[in-house]
Amino acid sequence: MSLTDNCGRPLLNLRISITQRCNNRCVYCHREGEVLRANRSSEKMTVQEIVRFAKIAVELGIARIKLTGGEPLMRKDLPKIVSGITLIEGLRDLSLTTNGLLLLGMAEDLHKRGLKRVNISLPTLNTDTYHRLTGGNLQDALSGVKAAIKAGFCPVKLNMVILKDVNVSDVPAMIEYAAQNRVILQLIELDPINVGDDYYATHHRSLDEQERLLREKAVSVEQRPYMHNRLIYHLPNVTVEAVHPIENSDFCMHCTRMRITSDGKLKPCLMRNDNLTDILTPMRRGADDEELKSLFIQSNMLREPYNKSA
Ligand code: 5AD
Ligand code: SF4
Repeated sequence: MSLTDNCGRPLLNLRISITQRCNNRCVYCHREGEVLRANRSSEKMTVQEIVRFAKIAVELGIARIKLTGGEPLMRKDLPKIVSGITLIEGLRDLSLTTNGLLLLGMAEDLHKRGLKRVNISLPTLNTDTYHRLTGGNLQDALSGVKAAIKAGFCPVKLNMVILKDVNVSDVPAMIEYAAQNRVILQLIELDPINVGDDYYATHHRSLDEQERLLREKAVSVEQRPYMHNRLIYHLPNVTVEAVHPIENSDFCMHCTRMRITSDGKLKPCLMRNDNLTDILTPMRRGADDEELKSLFIQSNMLREPYNKSA
C-alpha cells in the first residue's frame, strides 16, 4: 500500500539527488528546484545513507526511484549506489537522469548492476548549439547515448527541453534520430524554476504546436495518470512524450512524487523550499527505521498541489 496525501494523491515516485556537481552548465537547468550550496564540491550523503533512505521509502510504498543530480555520474561510487538500491525487495523500477557525457565508460557496468532505464539530456543535435546551451561536447553525449543502447538499457529516453529561438527547429531531426536509434524522445516544456525571469520570458515556448503535429502523425495517443497525466504519442516508427510544466493544475493534481535533496532533506514539491524535512541529521543521530518512516509520513502530508485550481 502506498501513502496518499491530503488531496488523495498517492506517493509512488522518489527522486533522489545524489550530488549538486555537474560537468555541464546548462543555461536552463532547474537544478531539481534545489538551492545551490556554497560548497558543492563534495557529496553530503554516503552510499549507505542513500540506500537506507531508498529502502525506507520502498517499505512505505514507493515503487519507482530516479537518481538525479546535478550529474549523478560525477559520483565515483554511483555503481555502489545502484547495486544497493536494486537489491531492495519490492522496488519496481530504478532509473537515472544523466547528461550522458560519462556514460561511455560506465553504461555497461551500471546495467550489469541492475539499472535498466536511463534518461539522457539532449537538447539538440547541433554541435554549436549544444556547446552554447550546455558548455559540453555533443559527441561525448552522443557516445553516451550509443553506449546506453549497446549496454541494453530499455528504454533509453532523450530529454529535450524546448527553447524558443534556440532548438525548436531541431525537433524533426531529434524525432528522426530517436526513430533511427529506437529510443524514446521526451519533449519538455521549460520550467521557470531556477531559470532567470528574462531567460524564461525569452525562451519559454508552449508545447501546443509540437503536440498538434504529433497528434496528426500518431497512430495512437496514451495518457499516464500517475506521471502528471503525461501524453505519449506513438508515431509509426517512434514514441514521443510531451512533458508539461509545473505551471498547471492538472500537472500538480497528478503528481505522485517526493524528492530527497542532495543534502538529505525530504522535498515535497519541486517548486518549494519552505517545507523541507531534514532526514539526514536524524539518521546520523542514530534514528531507527520507525523514526525515519514517521518523518517520511509527515513530509508526505506536506505534499499539496502547487497550482490548485484549473
Ligand atoms: N525545465 C524543464 N526541464 C529541465 N531540465 C533541466 N532544467 C529544466 C527546466 N528548467 C531537464 C533536463 C534533465 C532533467 C532532469 O530535467 O533535460 O534531463
Ligand atoms: Fe543541469 Fe543536467 Fe544540464 Fe547538469 S546536465 S547543468 S544537471 S540540466
